[in-house]
Amino acid sequence: MPQKVRKAVFPVAGLGTRFLPATKAIPKEMLPLADRPLIQHAVEEAKAAGIEMFCFVTSRGKSPLEDHFDYNYELNETLRKRGKNDLLKVVEDLQIESGNLSYVRQPQPLGLGHAVWCAREFICDEPFAVILPDEQVLGPKPCLAQMMDAYEQVGGNLLSVFEVPREQTNKYGILDIEKEDGRLVAVKGLVEKPDPADAPSNLSIQGRYILQPEIFDHLSRFETGAGGEIQLTDAMARLIGSQPFHGFKFEGRRFDCGDKLGFVLANVAYALERPDMADKVRTALRDMI
Ligand code: UTP
Repeated sequence: MPQKVRKAVFPVAGLGTRFLPATKAIPKEMLPLADRPLIQHAVEEAKAAGIEMFCFVTSRGKSPLEDHFDYNYELNETLRKRGKNDLLKVVEDLQIESGNLSYVRQPQPLGLGHAVWCAREFICDEPFAVILPDEQVLGPKPCLAQMMDAYEQVGGNLLSVFEVPREQTNKYGILDIEKEDGRLVAVKGLVEKPDPADAPSNLSIQGRYILQPEIFDHLSRFETGAGGEIQLTDAMARLIGSQPFHGFKFEGRRFDCGDKLGFVLANVAYALERPDMADKVRTALRDMI
């Protein structure tokens, strides 16, 4: 039985340039999907997968993320006095047990690999999950919980993966596949943003990872890769061969909420899943079209 995954890292220090001007003063992770911000969807997904300790890798201007999970005495008291108990429960449920939510600062956006490296003292020496809140999956079971089931079978490192159009491989981290067995894919290599002609497959890494702490040995080299950034993909590629390494084809639809179109589509899809919104949204969309 592999060691239990108790900790998750949420890299949220990026600049969100694809979503300007919306993200000039508001962190991308605070943009709402249906009725809750992206970061809340991500934290709820982690909780549903059994995660107990949470670490946000933040940067300048990201304090609304901290406030969102904080106790807001004035708000809670006002809701209580007004008898708005449903809403009071909604905000109380947001809280994470004292001491189980940590923040580390990434002083400069040097890349996803560097952001994860910033959380090394929080992780210490155990397996951990990484969740990118701007990528969301709508499926029958939360994506990270699906991955935990698979992790119990194979252990090691596990990346959620999905198929991308071959002409778009230069936007993603791509798998070099050794063999496929149902939803599990044994990985023999990883390439960040390869040209379509050089891409070893069209299976791309998606923003959910389960990693072993040895990744920090490789991240500590601070080697830059595609786009001049310290890439998580490059450090992961170095672990292959020394530890089990698999892709996992999750069940569900993936949305890139860091992209304007992806964000709009995600909002429609999530609203259509909500019993309290679905009928009204469906009718309104029909009228509009
Ligand atoms: P993105 O590639 O989406 O970059 O990062 P970004 O800066 O957030 O957005 P764009 O591309 O400029 O629009 C993927 C994830 O990695 C985090 C981001 O916050 C996001 O969750 N990240 C990226 C960091 O935390 N630090 C970095 O240096 C880079």
